[in-house]
Amino acid sequence: MTGRFITFEGIDGAGKSSHIARLSDWLQARGRQVLVTREPGGTPLAETLRDCLLHRPMDAMTEALVVFAARRDHLQQRIRPALEAGHTVLCDRFTDATFAYQGGGRGFDQRVLTELERWVQGGLQPDLTLLFDLPASLAAQRRAAVRAADRFEAQDESFFDRVRAGYAQRQAAQPSRFEMLDASQTPEEVWAQVQRALEGRGW
Ligand code: TYD
Repeated sequence: MTGRFITFEGIDGAGKSSHIARLSDWLQARGRQVLVTREPGGTPLAETLRDCLLHRPMDAMTEALVVFAARRDHLQQRIRPALEAGHTVLCDRFTDATFAYQGGGRGFDQRVLTELERWVQGGLQPDLTLLFDLPASLAAQRRAAVRAADRFEAQDESFFDRVRAGYAQRQAAQPSRFEMLDASQTPEEVWAQVQRALEGRGW
C-alpha cells in the first residue's frame, strides 16, 4: 500500500472534527488526494450499524462486534482501495476507539478486542494517530454547549476518565504511531499542533 492512513481519536468533545476538515484542505493544497471518512461508518452498511450503536441499547460485547463488523465493511469497500490508489485517508476514529470505549469505558476484555483486531485488520494499522487529549470535565462542558447527547455522550465523567485512560494505554503500547495533542488549547493552537505533527514526519 502506498497511501497514508491517519486516524483522529479522543473523548467526545475533544474537538477533532473541525481539524479533520482543515487537514483535508491543507493536504489537497499540497497535491494529495484525500478520503475523509469516519467510524463507525463510511459505507451504507457501516452507517446503518453506526445508527444502531449510537441509539439502541446493547451490551459491551455486542458493541464490540458491531464496531468491528462496520470496520470490516469499511476497510474492504473504502479504506484499503483508497490506500492502494495512493490516497491519504483521514478517518474520524478507528480501532483505538474500540479499545478506549469498549475496553476502557465498558470494561470489555481487551484480549478479545486484540483477537478481533487481528481477524478484521490483519496487520493494518494507521500510519499516524492524532490523539486529541483533554480532561473529561472540560470535554463535558464543551459537549453541553453544542448538542444533544447520544448513548455514549450521555455517560458520566468517570466513563470518560476510563476512555481517556484506555487511549493512553494504547499510546503507551505503540508510541511511534501516536501524536498526543493538547486539546484543551484554542482551536488555532491545536491546529498548529496538527501541522507540526505532519511536518515533523516530512508529510
Ligand atoms: P463521534 O465520532 O464522536 O461522532 P460525532 O462527533 O458525530 O458524535 O461518535 C461516535 C461514537 O461512537 C463515539 O461516542 C465513540 C463511539 N465509538 C465506540 O464506542 N467504539 C468504536 O470503536 C468507535 C469507532 C466509536
